[in-house]
Amino acid sequence: MYSSELNAIKKSNRLRDTQLCEPGLVDFASNDYLGFSEIDSLLDRTYEEIKKYKSHAPKSSQMVNGYQSIHKNFEDYLSKINSFESAITAGSGFLANLALIESLPRKKDLLILDSEYHASGILASKLVDAKVEKFEHNDMKNLEEILQQNRAKRVIVAVEGIYSMSGDLLKREIFELCEKYKFLLIVDEAHSVGVVGDRLLGVFDLFDVKPTKYHIKMGTLGKAMGSYGAYILCSSHIREYLVNRAKSLIYATAPSLFDIELARQGFIYMDENLKRLKDEIGKRREIIYRFFGFEMAGLIFSLELNSSVEALTLQKKLKDLGFIVAAIRPPTVSKPILRIIPRLGASVNKLETVCRFLVSTK
Ligand SMILES: Cc1ncc(COP(=O)(O)O)c(C=O)c1O
Repeated sequence: MYSSELNAIKKSNRLRDTQLCEPGLVDFASNDYLGFSEIDSLLDRTYEEIKKYKSHAPKSSQMVNGYQSIHKNFEDYLSKINSFESAITAGSGFLANLALIESLPRKKDLLILDSEYHASGILASKLVDAKVEKFEHNDMKNLEEILQQNRAKRVIVAVEGIYSMSGDLLKREIFELCEKYKFLLIVDEAHSVGVVGDRLLGVFDLFDVKPTKYHIKMGTLGKAMGSYGAYILCSSHIREYLVNRAKSLIYATAPSLFDIELARQGFIYMDENLKRLKDEIGKRREIIYRFFGFEMAGLIFSLELNSSVEALTLQKKLKDLGFIVAAIRPPTVSKPILRIIPRLGASVNKLETVCRFLVSTK
């Protein structure tokens, strides 16, 4: 039925398939930045907590009977540590982006996205009635030009804290522009929470930005927190609006209780082990700099390659040596890359072995 489409994908070397995880391989591919997915005590504590509740499943939407004290406690905890007025959880980062970007821009509004914004936001932007513009990746001048050229009732700008493929850090000036033009700023912190900031809470923490009613922070739980799900931090006013308009929050079963509690345990663990975790992150940044002269803002190292074939070949060679890294090809990225995550779950010695191999192939 779809042979011609599939053949076209095959011909351009872009065919994807599910990749069965091989636990024997040393993992430099996953977004589990802090190695939390392998810490047994987090799992044990979560299980003990969940056992105290009558029901271990959310069972319905948050707007019906699925909003349970586990969600509420987590929201309160997150709002407090991030100094936001309010929070709400979502089933995943994809659903959280859909919630925000599909519901906030209305007719006569203007939505402006960074051109490298995540696919979930790009998809959601196709569902809105508002005018949609994209600015050149991380280019604040271009963003300001678009702001000056357009009139709109409300302006919503969406950016990422650390960009998922390039690993680029958000420009600090965005917060100044936000204050000047009073737009609603969505910061997707999927790849910055747990990785940057004095308390490892992401870019608001890193740039010491005090959240205002114009700020919205989206964080995911499936990356540094080693769980699954997401959260949105915002003003109480925006939360009230989302609860009434965001379809992926309203018409979806509430997030998994187990995953939310596991993430809460992850945040607590992170806070208790802050210095050690930051030291370990620093060691990995130093290694990547030593081998490649590249300063990672977070824990993403993207090695640009000439072709998709080269990316797949290098990935295969590393696999034969016992390592898994991601080979990311167009259309996900404009140029093929090996995406290497120097996560804390794998030792610095193993990271050096991978770096040595990659340098030797240059
Ligand atoms: C920047 C960014 N936002 C959102 C998402 C979606 O998050 P989730 O995996 O929790 O659905 C991802 C995941 O790949 C991401 O990289």
